[in-house]
Amino acid sequence: MTRSHADAAPGPGAPRCPATPLYGPQLDGDALPGLYEDLRLRHGPVAPVSVAPGIDAWLVLGHHELLRLTREEQDFSHDPRRWTLLREGRVPPDSPILPMVGWRPALLFADGQQHRRMRAAVSDALARINGHELRRTVRAAAERLIASFAAGGTADLVPHYARKLPMEVIMRLLGLDERAGQQLVQAIAGTVVANADSANASRRMAEILGRLIEDKRRAPGNDVTSALLHHPARLSDEEVLHNLVVMFVAGNQTTVNWIATTLRILLTDPAFRSSLAGGHLTVDDALDLVLWRFPPTQNFPARYATRDLRFGGQDIRAGDMLILGLAAANQDPRVLPETGRPVVGNRSHLAFGAGPHACPAQDPARLIARTAVDTISHRLPDMELAVREEELAWVKSPWSKGLAALPVRFADPQLPSAPAPQAPAPQAPAPHASAPHPPPAPRPAPPGALPAQRTLPQQGERR
Ligand code: HEM
Repeated sequence: MTRSHADAAPGPGAPRCPATPLYGPQLDGDALPGLYEDLRLRHGPVAPVSVAPGIDAWLVLGHHELLRLTREEQDFSHDPRRWTLLREGRVPPDSPILPMVGWRPALLFADGQQHRRMRAAVSDALARINGHELRRTVRAAAERLIASFAAGGTADLVPHYARKLPMEVIMRLLGLDERAGQQLVQAIAGTVVANADSANASRRMAEILGRLIEDKRRAPGNDVTSALLHHPARLSDEEVLHNLVVMFVAGNQTTVNWIATTLRILLTDPAFRSSLAGGHLTVDDALDLVLWRFPPTQNFPARYATRDLRFGGQDIRAGDMLILGLAAANQDPRVLPETGRPVVGNRSHLAFGAGPHACPAQDPARLIARTAVDTISHRLPDMELAVREEELAWVKSPWSKGLAALPVRFADPQLPSAPAPQAPAPQAPAPHASAPHPPPAPRPAPPGALPAQRTLPQQGERR
């Protein structure tokens, strides 16, 4: 914050109430959920916050308001070039928010027809991923990772498993070989930290993806890049490049968090441990519980008001930034059942966003996460936490909701001979008529499943 709460004198493009910081040393991952409830009590469903020093915005905490924010593009644009603070040059070039919201010619930053055009290409490319092959690829990569640490009897499942798996799989989906994939990961990591080297990192990223695009134009393969390049929406090479970056950035850390938090639940929640053996609750139920209670992106930037308007009890001005408060909206007391707990099978959480920009990769992401969790649960059946649950810490971030570490021990790994990984192939040939998303994977019917109104266990008092 550049000014204290008491003397806050909001300028144009900033909220008119004193803004509460969403960052700072006291705000670790455990403190944020309490802060959301405090903001809800003090301000209602839309609250003034600051997301970085000098950067004020509105946090949308209400479920109903978040649906409106994501669905009504005419009032809430995705295009950061409308953002007053940016237009007035009030965002420092090294502000940590800039790499996240800087405009690119990609679907995440486009509205209306421009968005629909790029979204059709991305959705079609994702819809052509062959689920069976994707499952095989994830399982093979998971087996290899598990084999690399199984002999030791201990592992930290965040760096050794959850953080490695989605990256490897997404690189293969995009059509990159291992070496180029590693280089791209490093380059993208360099671009999202806004420091002196980020321009170089950005150049390296463009070079690697530029080479990939050239190769796939010349010799298309069964991968997402080739599908994008040859889609009738006729994306330019530059658009393909930036949409690939968005896919990687939007898909990698979120899936890492989803896998690790689900494993934590399976390791710590007695209801899940006994149910998985006895059949009442499934891995999909644990994945859903995470999406409700610990959404992998807890807050997502951003939308920009296109006009002055009254919204959630606040006066919003054209050009104000609004943040999607995904975790807070999932806990909105106006929509949670009376028990305060989500109902099994209810997927009306907002972890994937909503409206025209809702995550287009929900099915492949679930398949990756489910396979990752299933595989390690089978290979290390006696795995248990190597620290007390209270010692598990969340990464300190107002955006990402992920575990910093998940140390486990195990005595009796059940290892197979690892099959060689294969690239998952989108189904050829391309029919290209803006294919709908593939239907959600059928939920396995657990033996002795309970009626639909089961509620998920009250996991995670320490949110
Ligand atoms: C393979 C993994 C994934 C890929 C490739 C991916 C890709 C994308 C893309 C391309 C968008 C932009 C959509 C648009 O602007 O039209 C997006 C949005 C989003 N994704 Fe994903 N995603 C993945 C996994 C996830 C996961 C695991 C989560 C969280 C559970 C997630 C949450 C979101 C959210 C919250 C948005 C923003 C929605 C909005 O702005 O309204 N994604 N994703």
